[in-house]
Amino acid sequence: MRANFVSTLDGSAVGGDGRSGSINTEADGRIFHLQRELADCVLVGAGTARTEGYRRGKRPIVVVSNSGNLPQSLAEGEGHVILATCASSGRSEDDGVWIEGDDAVDLHALVARLQQSGMPRVLAEGGPHLFHSLLDAGLVDEFALTLSPRIVGGDHVRVVDGDPLGGDGGLRTEIAHLLEEDGSILGLWRVLPNP
Ligand SMILES: NC(=O)c1ccc[n+]([C@@H]2O[C@H](COP(=O)([O-])OP(=O)(O)OC[C@H]3O[C@@H](n4cnc5c(N)ncnc54)[C@H](OP(=O)(O)O)[C@@H]3O)[C@@H](O)[C@H]2O)c1
Repeated sequence: MRANFVSTLDGSAVGGDGRSGSINTEADGRIFHLQRELADCVLVGAGTARTEGYRRGKRPIVVVSNSGNLPQSLAEGEGHVILATCASSGRSEDDGVWIEGDDAVDLHALVARLQQSGMPRVLAEGGPHLFHSLLDAGLVDEFALTLSPRIVGGDHVRVVDGDPLGGDGGLRTEIAHLLEEDGSILGLWRVLPNP
């Protein structure tokens, strides 16, 4: 599983409009689309799919939602969408609805099912809540992060939102690639197993 995010230099995952589109750059946009092409499916939290107005595309989009609400923008169109939810949502299992877990989506079971369904290369596009859960579950192999040459101030969410992870020193990573274009720093880190 590879996660892909963009952040400002001061650590914000969004611009003043509360969306990531306002802080991304041309180079980041190319990386975003290239990584989709390299993936078997896109995994995204319902919050991000709603805020960013996700639409169906070439790659299957797997939307994680405990409440079982598929964002309206994904309700129709060309391309496959899977709603990954849990039994407490009251939804019934079918081709487009996967029930994984009782009261909360079991992310390990979901990833295993994606692998069994021929989609081992998962691109997680967030958001910060889902990314926290995936990191906490030890499911993230790689973290692609673009540092956008912007400073937004304010009180905005970071790319990971939730309780502390990995003890005082946090989770450990090692760098795999680092590129620069027009002031955007494009990095790829491997997430190391938590000792
Ligand atoms: N900078 C970037 O690269 C980047 C990337 C993505 C998003 N963003 C920004 O992040 C903001 C959204 O943040 P967010 O943290 O709310 O996004 P999120 O994680 O996509 O959405 C949270 C919602 O997704 C579902 N969800 C998340 N984790 C879940 C889990 N472990 N199990 C079950 N359901 C889960 C829940 O939906 P239900 O309520 O339906 O149960 C939850 O309310 C937006 O402003 C967006 O623009 C930035």
